[in-house]
Amino acid sequence: MTFPAALPVPRTPDSMDAPPLRWAILGPGWIAEQLVESLHAHTRQEVVAVGSRSLDRARSFADRHGIATAVGSYEELVGLDEVDIVYVATPHPLHLPHALLAMDAGKHVLIEKPIALSAAEARQIASRAAEAGLFCAEALWTLFLPKWDVLRQVVEGGMLGELRSVHTIYGEYFTDDHRIFDATLAGGPLLDLGTYPLAYVTSLLGPATTVAAAGVPDPRGVNGQLGATMVHGDTMSVIATTVHGWPRNEITIIGSEGVLTVEALHNSPGPLTVTSADRRVTLTHDEPYGDQVAGLHFQAAEAARRITANETQTPIRPLGASIISLEASDEIRRQVQISFAAAGLVEQPH
Ligand SMILES: NC(=O)c1ccc[n+]([C@@H]2O[C@H](COP(=O)([O-])OP(=O)(O)OC[C@H]3O[C@@H](n4cnc5c(N)ncnc54)[C@H](OP(=O)(O)O)[C@@H]3O)[C@@H](O)[C@H]2O)c1
Repeated sequence: MTFPAALPVPRTPDSMDAPPLRWAILGPGWIAEQLVESLHAHTRQEVVAVGSRSLDRARSFADRHGIATAVGSYEELVGLDEVDIVYVATPHPLHLPHALLAMDAGKHVLIEKPIALSAAEARQIASRAAEAGLFCAEALWTLFLPKWDVLRQVVEGGMLGELRSVHTIYGEYFTDDHRIFDATLAGGPLLDLGTYPLAYVTSLLGPATTVAAAGVPDPRGVNGQLGATMVHGDTMSVIATTVHGWPRNEITIIGSEGVLTVEALHNSPGPLTVTSADRRVTLTHDEPYGDQVAGLHFQAAEAARRITANETQTPIRPLGASIISLEASDEIRRQVQISFAAAGLVEQPH
C-alpha cells in the first residue's frame, strides 16, 4: 500500500459557534478556574452560578470571573431555575453523589474525570441519566481536542493498518500538600492521571480482556506508582502512571502499516506524528501546544451542541466507554491492592 501523503484535518467545530447554555460550577477549585477561563475566552457559554460549601469561597470565585450568582451550598446551586447544566468539579469520591444531586434536580451534567471511583458507581450515574433523560458525560477533555479527531480519523481510516498495541505513561510531580496524597479523597496516580491512559487504550483497543498490574505504595499513604500490561482481544497495551515526576508523557500507537505518536504532553493541545512502518514517510499534525484554558472549552461546546439537539450523550466519550475504562481500573486496583475504603467506597464484588 502507498502510504498517504497527508494527515486528515480536524473536523472539530469552532467552540464559538456552539449554542450558549447556562452553566453552574459545582466545586470552585483548580480545574473549575481553568474551565471558566476557557469558556470565557473561547465560547459563548454563560457561566451563571457557582456553588461552594462556603459562601465566601463561592463569592470570591464569582467576583474573579464575573459570575452573577454565588451560593453557599451545592443543593442550592442545583436548584437554581436559571441553570441548564452543572459542571461537577469536586474530588473524585464526590462525583457520584454530586452528579446524582444535579440530575435529581433536573440538570444536565458534565462530570470531571474520573467520572466515578469504580465501574459500579459509573453504572449508577449512567442509569440515573438514562432514567431522567438528561445529558451526562465524563469531562475527559483530551478526547475532545482537535488532535484527537485527527487521531480518530487516522485510526478509523486504516492509515495505521491493523492496530497491534498502544503504549502510554502519565506521570507528574506533586508537592506534599496536594490532594493526590489524601487517601480519603481516593488519592494516588491511578484515578487522577491513569484515567487518561486507561481511556486512550480502551477507546482505541476495546475492553481489557486480561490485566497484569503491579505497583508500589508511597509513604504518604496512597499508591505512588503502578504499571499494567493488558490484552484487548488480539491487541495489547502497556500503561504506567506515577506521582514521582514528569516522564515524557506520550502515546505510541503501533499498527501494521505505521506508528502514531501523540507528542508530550498527550493530555493537552499539541502535535502528533504518523510514521510509515518502513520509516520513509513522517507526517505531522502541527497543533500548537496549549494548557487547560486553551483546550477545556471543546468538551463544553460539544455538550452544548448535544443538549441543544436533545441528545443525552456524546459519541466522543459515551458513558459506556467511561464504564469500560473503570472496569480496567477496578481490576488494576484489585491486583495492586488499592483500597478506597478511606474514601467511603463500598467495594462491589468483582
Ligand atoms: N481535566 C483536567 O485537566 C483536570 C485537572 C485537575 C483535576 N481534574 C479533576 O477535577 C477534580 C477536582 O480536582 P481539582 O484539582 O480542581 O481539586 P481542588 O482544587 O481541590 O478543588 C476541588 C473543589 O471541590 C470542593 N470540595 C467539596 N468537597 C470537598 C472535599 N471533601 N475535599 C476537598 N474539596 C472538596 C472544594 O470546593 P468548596 O469546598 O469551595 O465547595 C474544592 O475547591 C478531580 O476529580 C480531578 O481528577 C481534572
